Amino acid sequence: MWAALGLAGAAALALNSCSTVSSTANAPPVIPGATFVGNRTCAECHTNIARVFPTSAHARIHIEDPRAVGQTGCESCHGPGSLHVTGGGGRGRFILNPGKDPAPCFECHRQVQAEFALPQHHPLPEKQMNCAQCHDPHGGDVFKPAGGLAMARLNEPCARCHREQTRPVVFEHPALREGCTVCHNPHGSINPRFLVQRDANLCLRCHAQEPGPSVRPGQIFIGKSDHTAFLRMGTCWSSGCHTAVHGSNVDRVMRY
Ligand code: HEC
Ligand code: HEC
Ligand code: HEC
Ligand code: HEC
Ligand code: HEC
Ligand code: HEC
Ligand code: HEC
Repeated sequence: MWAALGLAGAAALALNSCSTVSSTANAPPVIPGATFVGNRTCAECHTNIARVFPTSAHARIHIEDPRAVGQTGCESCHGPGSLHVTGGGGRGRFILNPGKDPAPCFECHRQVQAEFALPQHHPLPEKQMNCAQCHDPHGGDVFKPAGGLAMARLNEPCARCHREQTRPVVFEHPALREGCTVCHNPHGSINPRFLVQRDANLCLRCHAQEPGPSVRPGQIFIGKSDHTAFLRMGTCWSSGCHTAVHGSNVDRVMRY
């Protein structure tokens, strides 16, 4: 994940240690006629958000270049706030809301923008979803939904919308304990169902072949059974095999 962010950052920002950014190439958001006023002004009216914000990953961004005003803090996502402030604030009044349009996020997270442009993606570019349904932009845990429960659980953001895959089952698939993202890219993918790999390698990463004296070259064992012929029939989860990859109520090896 860090590596992925590093790449994303490289396109927009040059990152060095502790999120200190030494130079910038990304364009800060623009609101015609408005200038940057700084976090302290926002805090006068938005006390609740300003109180939690210092714990956010985004509050730790420091840019050494003095010309980079507005590229950190509230206004890096909401745009320059002077007109909003002098107008006494208000919804839709001279301020950007990336809950409605994620363009400010994409200025810094080009890799994420690219993922949402892949053929299979969560319908965020179609404006049916937003980043805040999975990421809290202000609070201490950016990986929990905005306004979500205080206790962030690994799959909680997904469970809110995908009950079928997250319901309790008799025969659990322990893979889910590592999070949905071991198999799915949460933003988008070239593969169907946002899978991180389209073939049996998705499963073989964890279910590596167990070589033994009785295994002939070319033979593929998974668990204790010979899968050589099965793997020619398609993916592990198609062809009527482990179709219940998220766990099953009836079958220990998740065939249905
Ligand atoms: C003078 C008080 C005041 C100041 C200062 C102020 N705001 Fe606001 N802002 C408001 C009010 C009032 C609303 C409407 C909120 C509501 O309806 O709950 C609002 C709404 C917003 C919204 C929601 C806009 C929307 O269209 O959904 C955002 C985002 C926002 N402010 C950001 C900021 C930022 C960033 C700053 C600092 C640059 C700031 N505000 C400074 C009073 C202020
Ligand atoms: C990382 C980007 C980012 C930063 C930095 C940020 N915000 Fe936001 N802000 C958002 C997003 C995204 C939403 C939409 C949240 C939602 O839809 O639930 C939002 C929503 C808001 C709203 C509207 C809340 C509402 O009830 O609709 C206000 C007000 C606001 N932010 C103020 C601030 C203030 C003040 C700061 C700095 C202390 C700040 N934001 C920093 C991304 C950011
Ligand atoms: C001004 C540039 C900038 C903007 C705008 C911005 N981010 Fe970030 N974001 C960063 C940087 C830099 C980090 C790394 C912070 C750190 O190292 O703690 C980061 C971290 C994150 C992370 C955590 C990544 C991790 O691996 O821990 C998430 C999630 C994220 N941002 C989402 C968003 C969302 C959603 C928005 C828009 C609402 C947004 N960002 C807007 C620069 C930005
Ligand atoms: C459906 C939920 C969901 C939505 C919507 C979503 N994200 Fe994420 N995002 C995640 C999860 C889960 C991770 C953690 C990925 C992992 O652990 O590998 C993540 C990781 C990230 C990261 C860290 C780098 C990376 O790619 O691993 C950034 C930055 C980020 N998201 C930004 C955004 C931005 C910006 C938006 C909106 C344009 C957004 N996300 C929308 C769920 C989501
Ligand atoms: C706010 C609701 C919401 C959240 C949260 C959410 N999703 Fe989704 N998800 C959707 C919607 C809407 C679709 C598109 C459904 C469609 O087109 O039929 C979708 C589609 C998918 C698909 C593709 C389904 C298909 O039939 O092709 C996968 C896989 C998926 N989501 C996984 C996840 C994962 C993993 C998470 C957590 C990181 C997550 N989702 C969080 C709403 C959500
Ligand atoms: C071990 C890998 C793996 C994990 C972990 C995993 N999935 Fe899946 N998921 C798959 C595969 C494979 C498919 C494709 C099934 C198909 O096409 O028949 C799929 C399909 C889906 C679909 C499309 C509808 C369906 O059931 O076919 C959704 C939605 C989904 N997963 C959500 C999730 C969520 C939410 C989580 C976390 C709770 C999760 N997945 C964890 C492998 C996984
Ligand atoms: C992140 C690691 C991981 C991934 C990826 C993964 N699994 Fe698993 N799976 C496990 C663990 C751990 C167990 C329980 C221990 C075991 O039986 O090997 C398990 C158990 C199973 C079992 C039950 C085995 C038994 O004898 O009880 C089946 C069937 C299974 N997985 C199928 C799949 C399929 C199909 C995929 C790909 C869609 C997949 N797994 C991907 C970790 C993973």
